[in-house]
Amino acid sequence: MIRRSVVVGCGAYLPERIVTNAELASRIDTSDEWITQRTGIKLRHIAAEGEKTSDLALAAARHALAAANVPADEVDIIVLATSTPDQTFPASATRVQAALEMKNGAAFDVQAVCSGFIYALNIADNFIRVGQARTALVIGAETFSRLLDWTDRTTCVLFGDGAGAVVLRAGEGTGSSADRGILSSHIHSDGRQHDMLYVDGGPSSTGTVGHVRMSGREVFRHAVVNMASVIGEALAANGLTAADIDWLVPHQANRRILDSTAQKLNLDPRKVVVTVDHHANTSAASIPLALSEAVADGRIRPGQIVVMEAMGGGFTWGATIVRW
Ligand code: ACO
Repeated sequence: MIRRSVVVGCGAYLPERIVTNAELASRIDTSDEWITQRTGIKLRHIAAEGEKTSDLALAAARHALAAANVPADEVDIIVLATSTPDQTFPASATRVQAALEMKNGAAFDVQAVCSGFIYALNIADNFIRVGQARTALVIGAETFSRLLDWTDRTTCVLFGDGAGAVVLRAGEGTGSSADRGILSSHIHSDGRQHDMLYVDGGPSSTGTVGHVRMSGREVFRHAVVNMASVIGEALAANGLTAADIDWLVPHQANRRILDSTAQKLNLDPRKVVVTVDHHANTSAASIPLALSEAVADGRIRPGQIVVMEAMGGGFTWGATIVRW
């Protein structure tokens, strides 16, 4: 018998305020047509003034714990993926821990930008596999709107704010792909691509928070290649093929990246969970937000093979395969 991390609950939270493409077009030189055609994005949620990443994370965490029927005091670790923490330190995860009135366990943040949720899942899964944790709360939460240069039309139209969370619990398996739970995670980075997508600020460089800067075309090119390759790696590690995928839940950056990845895998596009149209790119939050939506509406069901994948600044990228 081996230990597996079973997903027992999902939760999501989106800020109330919705910003449409039309609203952006009234402020900068862009159009609904351009944004829709190039990205598939129609609207994004934007955090209210004073609404912090940990507030979004907490709301998603509460929903996930309720869906899992797991009390917060049974959580051994909180792993919060974010690139937009409330403060440089301490970790925003500790804010969530305090708000959940947890007095035990450990809470920390993980920074891998848009791949953050895959990295966080991988870390939490390893804690459970080695027996250091029995229950993990894994959150992706971002207020990316705070990092945007709202005069730069090449980046500000792409992102939104939000949070999603999952609760993992230790279960038992035989080590085959028939087990329920996370079958495997695969993470990569290539620091040579650092300057393709970055923030031009930070505590030890400029002392400012900075803004997102991106070479869009290069990011696009790498995204399709890296995501298709890491999905292939994850399937092969479990003796599966693309035909075994019931649902692909990709990081939601751009509709064209999603379509190209599905095409590269020869995957029926109806098996891809798409939320980019109504969430935009919420970085580390995008996968758990999409997961929550597809679980809540009954698309993702127990026993199915769910593949999650992401790519982000660094570059970082990765994939996780779960038998739901
Ligand atoms: N509205 C109108 N015109 C615009 C806008 C806008 N919002 N943004 C750029 N343009 C213009 C450009 O100025 C350019 O004009 P020019 O030809 O007169 O110079 C023209 O549109 C074409 O610009 P490109 O950058 O070549 O457009 P492209 O087709 O590459 O689309 C995009 C840009 C959407 C950013 C695309 O490259 C992309 O999706 N890249 C992936 C980036 C991404 O998803 N990043 C998210 C973070 S990483 C991740 O999550 C995987």
